[in-house]
Amino acid sequence: MAYNLLKGKKGIIFGALDENSIAWKTAERVHEEGGTFVLTNAPIAMRMGQINALAEKTGSQIVPADATNEDDLNNLIAKSMEILGGKMDFVLHSIGMSVNVRKGRLYTDEKYDFTTKGWDVSALSFHKVMQSLYKADAMNSWGSIVALTYMAAQRTFPDYNDMADNKAYLESVARSFGYFFGKEKKVRVNTISQSPTPTTAGQGVKGFDGFINYAEKMSPLGNATAQDCADYTVSLFSDLTRKVTMQNLFHDGGFSNTGVSHEVIEHFTE
Ligand SMILES: NC(=O)c1ccc[n+]([C@@H]2O[C@H](COP(=O)([O-])OP(=O)(O)OC[C@H]3O[C@@H](n4cnc5c(N)ncnc54)[C@H](O)[C@@H]3O)[C@@H](O)[C@H]2O)c1
Repeated sequence: MAYNLLKGKKGIIFGALDENSIAWKTAERVHEEGGTFVLTNAPIAMRMGQINALAEKTGSQIVPADATNEDDLNNLIAKSMEILGGKMDFVLHSIGMSVNVRKGRLYTDEKYDFTTKGWDVSALSFHKVMQSLYKADAMNSWGSIVALTYMAAQRTFPDYNDMADNKAYLESVARSFGYFFGKEKKVRVNTISQSPTPTTAGQGVKGFDGFINYAEKMSPLGNATAQDCADYTVSLFSDLTRKVTMQNLFHDGGFSNTGVSHEVIEHFTE
């Protein structure tokens, strides 16, 4: 169901790789709610992904940008203001990648070049995106910036590897930049801590199937899907959440506050 929650609002959506991506589902949902946007992803992902189909479906233009590259980001923001005819009301940062995870290096055997690269892509890029928006004065007052994170920032999930540290950094950047963006520009900044979700990035984590099934059994409402996440993100882009900022918002069916569930107890009862 659509409620016209984003009618007249403009923005940038980072990270739609394929139709499983959280950013993909969010772009479709934002479009349904009347929002217009520029789609962006790393130039290499343009070749692998199917972003053109999404652009066609949502009537959007694509501007490639590596989110670790400041020149790319400045160009993206200038072009987006040109294409959309003004400043942004919403920005979604839906980006993550760990080279250590990809190469099968354990947390106790990190290759630090890989660690640095993964941190730049997954965490520092959020600061870079916001600093570029801030300096270009590219956000409208009462605009909303959202990034995606995972609960491994607070609790240990051994195979989440260095992404846990990247997410902790990302969440801290949301709070710190949220202060300045709030004070100076009346813009809110939040992170959504999402359930495990079967996407390219999600399935890269070792033992993902066990992980997602466990979370499902531990969540009173069941895991939040990518579609659910798109709905929640729309609410955070809408005018109905104007005073929510500098928060890490758990969107996980109750997983984060559940000690143990009946299903898990049953599993361990002989
Ligand atoms: N899937 C999960 O289980 C899960 C759970 C919680 C949070 N998240 C977070 O959700 C976000 C989106 O991931 P997803 O699950 O939709 O997977 P995905 O693989 O579909 O999306 C990740 C995106 O990051 C992009 N990206 C990588 N390097 C980039 C760069 N240098 N510049 C610009 N973009 C770059 C990729 O091209 C891709 O589009 C990530 O931050 C991820 O950590 C995912």
